[in-house]
Amino acid sequence: MLEVTERIRSLYEQGLPFFKKSVFQDLVRQLDNCRANDPPVEGQIISIPAVDGSVVEVELETGLVMHHIDKETELVVMDPYLDYRTFQHLTIHDDPLYFSPHLAYCPTRLIYPLRSRRSSTKEILDPWKPQALEEVQDGLDAGIKMWEDSKDCRQLQSLFRAASVPSISKVVAFGCSTMAFKVDQRGTSITQHALILTMRDIVKQMTKSPDKPGIQCFAQDPIYTEVDKEVLRRSGITVLEDPRAFLEVDDETVVVSFAPDIPVRQIIADIARPAVLIWNTVWDEDEATAFWHALHPSFNPGCANRLTLASTDPESSRLIDMIRDHYSELTTLEPKERFTGATVYIRRD
Ligand SMILES: C[S@@+](CC[C@H](N)C(=O)[O-])C[C@H]1O[C@@H](n2cnc3c(N)ncnc32)[C@H](O)[C@@H]1O
Repeated sequence: MLEVTERIRSLYEQGLPFFKKSVFQDLVRQLDNCRANDPPVEGQIISIPAVDGSVVEVELETGLVMHHIDKETELVVMDPYLDYRTFQHLTIHDDPLYFSPHLAYCPTRLIYPLRSRRSSTKEILDPWKPQALEEVQDGLDAGIKMWEDSKDCRQLQSLFRAASVPSISKVVAFGCSTMAFKVDQRGTSITQHALILTMRDIVKQMTKSPDKPGIQCFAQDPIYTEVDKEVLRRSGITVLEDPRAFLEVDDETVVVSFAPDIPVRQIIADIARPAVLIWNTVWDEDEATAFWHALHPSFNPGCANRLTLASTDPESSRLIDMIRDHYSELTTLEPKERFTGATVYIRRD
């Protein structure tokens, strides 16, 4: 195990990207080919590239019945999505039971959601019903108005007007969550989506060239319901399935991401140098350790990186270097509770 983690560290220190668009593209192609078989065919193989240059073959598990809950209901394995392992996941193994030698060098793997379904009809049982489309639309409209009328939004617009910003052609957002359920976090999700629209307007005003096509907006979050997708579509935001939003990110992109369940910042640091980053403030190692230690005071980290294992979107040395070497901080986003302590970074050209 030690030998493997030392090798991974060394490959990382040599600058080898752990996340690659070409790998995402290839996995999308393989999974789409398998999905073409309905019902799923047993024993289909997916090839996953590893950072040591090898390729690991895994058998697709879609459609497997894991467990019979009762006479009428069973737990079934759904279509996988990508599982992004952080540098911390790949190099810190506190419990050998969770160490998989087979996949040890694979930062991108597959993860399967489980759902319950009726055994007789195979109908998926969904305990959560989204609100009606017009109710969600009204909530989003009111939230956009509230955000656009706020001093925080106006301040952000005037900071961008005064800044020197590289060329931008799209806005790509990750993990802004669903707006379709009446829960406390809904306001946060609405304000985060309103910010996507504000960024599109800011970029439109900056780009006065009549020849340039419009600014595209994309959003990726597997939790989106059909209702979310429709209200976002009406606002000009296209929802993309994981990992397709990563394929859209390039050097002319504004990336928007707040407390995602996946390591968006480590992935982006490997695949592009976007024009603008609006995401959780990038801490140095001491700041990150202090934050996680305050949350888990009894835990002795042993090494700084170990504590950041608790984060789904942790810093890495490559991310910290990228921000230090290529970006300037424009401002922190307010209100903090709506933007989970995020900072706006602009690439220095
Ligand atoms: C902790 S919540 C944060 C939600 C919201 N941004 C906030 O600040 O309250 C994490 C979000 O990441 C989303 N997420 C999980 N996997 C993702 C993926 N592969 N791509 C984009 N978002 C993802 C979850 O569905 C969820 O909405």
